Amino acid sequence: MKIFYDYYHNEVKLSFDDHPFKKDPKHVWVICRWETQWLLTKHKERGIEFPGGKVEPGETAEIAAIREVKEETGGRVHSLTYIGQYYVKGKSEDVVKNIYFAVIDSLPKQASYFETEGPVLYKELPEKLRTNPAFSFMMKDKVLPYSLERVQELVDS
Ligand code: GTP
Repeated sequence: MKIFYDYYHNEVKLSFDDHPFKKDPKHVWVICRWETQWLLTKHKERGIEFPGGKVEPGETAEIAAIREVKEETGGRVHSLTYIGQYYVKGKSEDVVKNIYFAVIDSLPKQASYFETEGPVLYKELPEKLRTNPAFSFMMKDKVLPYSLERVQELVDS
């Protein structure tokens, strides 16, 4: 278990065990790979981030992950792998979020990307995201680098 503080100084607990905080979390975050690039989205308020969001009533977390990727980027998920889970002790409420790795097999354009401006592709993620105003706060704590390490291990294995 890794414990650190996020961009807003909220405490975060991150674990790569099997659902350590909650069996059915209400939030998902999806690290997406399309061919040789990372696939992100540009949220209209938060900025650039990997897609994700809330699990709707009646959905599983996996179904929500696939839906959020499509809504926010247009990407069709070919495979989805659970990576880990994190817990954020927010000012008003706590959030538990599943992290997935998704391989995307097509990226058709669509008329609407919901609350985002659609897909953003990177061959390599920029360095020093913490001070980059184009990026969302979700990309600015240690959840991202630790998760990318796990994704790399998965891809290598
Ligand atoms: P909506 O209901 O979607 O409009 O948003 P909300 O701002 O109420 O968001 P949500 O319930 O998703 O999250 C509540 C709070 O939890 C946020 O304001 C953040 O402080 C925190 N939070 C949510 N997701 C993350 C995340 O991925 N990383 C970090 N560090 N904090 C998060």
